[in-house]
Amino acid sequence: MARDSESGLPIEPVYGPADLAGWDPAEKLGEPGAYPFTRGVYPTMYTGRPWTMRQYAGFGTAAESNARYRQLIAHGTTGLSVAFDLPTQMGHDSDAPLAHGEVGKVGVAVDSVEDMRELFTGIPLAEVSTSMTINAPAALLLLLYQLVAEEQGVPSARLTGTVQNDVLKEYIARGTYIFPPAPSLRLTADIFRYCTAEIPKWNTISISGYHMAEAGASPVQEIAFTLADGIEYVRTAVAAGMDVDDFAPRLSFFFVARTTLLEEVAKFRAARRIWARVMRDEFGARDPRSLMLRFHTQTAGVQLTAQQPEVNLVRVAVQGLAAVLGGTQSLHTNSYDEALALPTDRSARLALRTQQVLAYETDVTATVDPFAGSYAVERMTDDVAEAAVALMRRVEDLGGAVAAIEQGFQKAEIERNAYRVARETDSGERVVVGVNRFRLDAEEPYEPLRVDPSIEARQAERLARLRAERDGRAVESALGALRKAAGGEGNVLYPMKEALRVRATVGEVCGALREVWGSHVPHDVF
Ligand code: 3HC
Repeated sequence: MARDSESGLPIEPVYGPADLAGWDPAEKLGEPGAYPFTRGVYPTMYTGRPWTMRQYAGFGTAAESNARYRQLIAHGTTGLSVAFDLPTQMGHDSDAPLAHGEVGKVGVAVDSVEDMRELFTGIPLAEVSTSMTINAPAALLLLLYQLVAEEQGVPSARLTGTVQNDVLKEYIARGTYIFPPAPSLRLTADIFRYCTAEIPKWNTISISGYHMAEAGASPVQEIAFTLADGIEYVRTAVAAGMDVDDFAPRLSFFFVARTTLLEEVAKFRAARRIWARVMRDEFGARDPRSLMLRFHTQTAGVQLTAQQPEVNLVRVAVQGLAAVLGGTQSLHTNSYDEALALPTDRSARLALRTQQVLAYETDVTATVDPFAGSYAVERMTDDVAEAAVALMRRVEDLGGAVAAIEQGFQKAEIERNAYRVARETDSGERVVVGVNRFRLDAEEPYEPLRVDPSIEARQAERLARLRAERDGRAVESALGALRKAAGGEGNVLYPMKEALRVRATVGEVCGALREVWGSHVPHDVF
């Protein structure tokens, strides 16, 4: 009997040659590192260089997070990934009334260039690539990073990293938006243009399906809605007058890896193939790098359980393996205690060790795209691709990603799928080990990491000192120039950088933009 995949597509008990009748490897696969990139973006993939081990981390003050990054580097992590607290993500200073109770909780608090400097103390920015999970205020944090690098004497041309900068999925699934869609997209295009000119190796966006998956999207929905967002960004930049090959090589993506390994591998391969075709045929991109879907993966947090948390180590290993077999460029493996609290030092280390076992003890790095030609995985790749393309067409029929967001389409589709999964779990049809089967009578005790609650007061003192010490007139005049650029057509990043350099805070800079652009009010469909 056929079983359904997570996307609701049938998985046959046995696949064979008949399932690939008429299947042309030249058309569907090509060579690794060549169109349509089904087999991976680089010709040698992990035989040339393993994926980047990039553990998302950050909490409390800049000094505490800096200590965690140095520890991760000492344990062998190969890229940094900064988590910011909610006030920073929403463009509020730590002493703003709206920030109360949230400072330093889910990430590090960054209010000004002083915090950013402390965050990267002793970390040579010329040698590490840094991802920053920041969306509405992405431009600010990128510029703060550039300012700190300049202080370290590192030329911007050498900086490598990524800002998430994907505000469309914030409207769909994640929620940390500030401005309405139109100015948000204009800011995104300004970032593309600024980076092309000033920080050419920076990945300007991480177009993300991960958060949609966490909100309940199926694999097909995850890639379809993410690629549809990608199309919207490309259209925006092209409409702003950029040549597609000037910015497309620096677009990047971010997906989840679930425990359903086969469909996940199919999903990654399908996403690469669809994107290459869209970029070549719909946008006329010519540079092969513009066709390459490069992506980061995080293992599925939503599949981790608070019950018997050590079992999560096993889940994460399977999920990480799926990402690697799917050809990810960069990977975060979750800590086993993430369903309970912020990871402790020990659990963060174990999560990294999981990647190191995959990279150095297994044989999956010895050959490229080992599933190529598999009856099952090739068939599933085609099935996922076909369903995703059909869903992308529905988004187009609604007028594209932004129009569909405004009609609440993606959110409603994702919620429908989340409801299906919840129902299956409740009924026991979907087995979750330790939760609805194989339970313990009494859970073993667990001691979580707690963020020091005094950090909010300490951060407020730092801000008061900063405001007293800096040149208030220079700040006012720089914020005035920023408001003027935001109301006109010029690239806002140049006056924004000047404001941040004279120590305007994240809250002040976002506040100035809010005055000109307004704030987004969500539209809910039930
Ligand atoms: N042959 C030749 N060259 C190779 C190679 C090979 N086999 N493998 C790698 N390379 C080269 C690449 O070409 C590249 O060089 P270049 O910059 O000169 O082109 C270099 O080695 C680095 O390789 P990658 O670009 O493949 O890997 P990176 O790690 O640098 O970049 C990325 C990966 C996906 C493009 C990038 O965007 C990235 O790092 N993203 C991370 C995003 C992230 O961490 N997000 C965290 C989100 S957490 C979150 O959202 C929080 C929450 O709410 C859950």
